[in-house]
Amino acid sequence: MDRKEAEVYRQLDPERLPSHIAIIMDGNGRWAKRRHMPRVAGHRAGVAAVRSTVETAARVGIHALTLYAFSEENWRKRPKSEVDFLMRLLSRYLKAEVPTLNKNNIRLEYIGRQHELPDDVQERMEWARESTARNTGTVLTLALNYSARSELVDAFRSMVNAASQNGGFEHLRIDEHTVGRHLYTRNLPDPDLVVRTSGEMRLSNFLLWQLAYAEIYVTPTLWPDFRGVHLLEAIAEYQKRERRYGGLNHGDVRAQAEPLKAHK
Ligand code: FPP
Repeated sequence: MDRKEAEVYRQLDPERLPSHIAIIMDGNGRWAKRRHMPRVAGHRAGVAAVRSTVETAARVGIHALTLYAFSEENWRKRPKSEVDFLMRLLSRYLKAEVPTLNKNNIRLEYIGRQHELPDDVQERMEWARESTARNTGTVLTLALNYSARSELVDAFRSMVNAASQNGGFEHLRIDEHTVGRHLYTRNLPDPDLVVRTSGEMRLSNFLLWQLAYAEIYVTPTLWPDFRGVHLLEAIAEYQKRERRYGGLNHGDVRAQAEPLKAHK
């Protein structure tokens, strides 16, 4: 941990760390544009940000970190040359990073429609997942070819399939717990904190079901400039907030109860 990181870390309450942090990595293109470089240079620089963020999350003991690396929309709407570059970058990242992931006890997972990715990328992904499968620390989930609406569609289809193989539709029970069990994230807690870089105030079709109660932290920092220290700053801000899950905070409960008593 460098000096700046240690300084922010000292302000944190280790008992109240978010268990799951989700990050919308944004601003690679703008980072490159400001430097008069091609967009892909921003993606390449984004890998250093991924490395630093993942390492810090693991070091401070975050249970789960989910990174929005590639949306279904990216896949459809960006030039083929950029998509191909991102695929190669991902493949290279996985190959280079597995030893570090193992050293830091990080287990790799994926969410998204993986079967639509190129075969060689799918093979590399499976190899990296398998190579880290026995690690017991932070779960690093990469969202690749991911869309929250597609995830919900897949979950509803999966519920219907399960019911038809399991006694028919009279046994189909749909409630929040059942939907949760059919999402790609079925083995993860819902994120407590979602971070978005580059200042945009949107969820962009990311984990729409799971982020229902998450705290949102938006930073103007562009993704290639993001480092572990910025993650710790986001956690510090999270710890200043009071989470209410639709209820009242402590002070409000008292303030509301007292006038009622006075009227009795
Ligand atoms: C958003 O920036 C970023 C992406 C679409 C790709 C994210 C990829 C990386 C950070 C690098 C590789 C990732 C891994 C996991 C190895 P943008 O291009 O939308 O930026 P802009 O909004 O400024 O144009």
